[in-house]
Amino acid sequence: MFGVLQKILRHPEAVTVEEVAWIISNEELNEQLFSLADEVRRKYLGDEVFLRGIIEFSNYCRNDCLYCGIRASNKNVERYRMSLEEIYERAKIIASMNIKTIVLQSGEDPYYTKQMIADLIERIKKLNVAITLSIGERDFEEYRIWKEAGADRYLMRHETADEELYARLHPNDSFQSRVEHLKQLKRLGYETGAGSMVGLPDQTDLSLAKDVLFVYQLDADMVGIGPFIPHPGTPLGNSKAGDLIKTLKLISLTRLFLPDANIPATTALGTIHPQGRQLALKCGANVIMPNFTPSPYRAQYALYPNKICIFENDTACGQCTRKLVENTGYRVSEDFGYRRKIYERSSCGL
Ligand code: 5AD
Ligand code: FES
Repeated sequence: MFGVLQKILRHPEAVTVEEVAWIISNEELNEQLFSLADEVRRKYLGDEVFLRGIIEFSNYCRNDCLYCGIRASNKNVERYRMSLEEIYERAKIIASMNIKTIVLQSGEDPYYTKQMIADLIERIKKLNVAITLSIGERDFEEYRIWKEAGADRYLMRHETADEELYARLHPNDSFQSRVEHLKQLKRLGYETGAGSMVGLPDQTDLSLAKDVLFVYQLDADMVGIGPFIPHPGTPLGNSKAGDLIKTLKLISLTRLFLPDANIPATTALGTIHPQGRQLALKCGANVIMPNFTPSPYRAQYALYPNKICIFENDTACGQCTRKLVENTGYRVSEDFGYRRKIYERSSCGL
């Protein structure tokens, strides 16, 4: 029974989607999988955890993803946009707390032009931080300019690698086009983040296995995995939420396939379970993302309901995540937290 987990470590390229689906469905493997993932993480990355301070600077979105609380059709959202000055002020606070990565996230909001984002990147870069963009699909030319301006990383979850499910959840978008964007980001030299949700309606263990193999084949530098949480203002409002254990299994499997990737203990996991993020750190995750979105905006960036940290002080999450990491038995890194590649792959397998 232990054999197939060892096979992932020795011959990941030979593991089939059916084998991964079998691991996902087999509950007897859970404890072995979790402890092996922690072992692999400690072997390659030690006990370090990277903090990434996130600013959710706009909740306007031109998209209509069926699961997302800030989808364009949700008219019950109070929309906001932070000014470049406001964003920069928050970035300064993050840098002053010795957090070395600033994540700029928003809905897909074309209000922020290529030039506005480039100017913001140049300004924030002077704070001696790494910059991660998480602002959705834009023109390839924009990605290029922002990279030149100093952006280091780009997060764009693939959401689900089940093509049919992807099509149902994303009106007017296809999985293939999402893959093209991810490949382009890699070509431009971004550290590229993919990732997915667990527990989407009609998602099977085979769909989840495809998620694991997809990030492996892409050779993703970062992989964000969280449970799906139904938002009442969306067409999926009456669906079931994703499951804690299954999400932890996806995180662990991803760690076995990508021993050196940066994998966050996501806020969504912390939302469905009080120990969700701590458990993720013990199952292979090595990143945590304290929220630095100022009030009143923070509560309005509701991709899903009951998000944690909504009522905290504007800067509390910085201290809170440090304590969380230490209390879980890990150490907060003072480093920028670029991916430390343990081996070079000749090309992405897609
Ligand atoms: N539940 C959980 N995660 C969600 N996201 C969006 N909506 C939800 C939801 N209802 C995730 C998506 C997106 C990321 C920013 O948040 O995976 O890429
Ligand atoms: Fe936000 Fe703990 S991480 S309050």
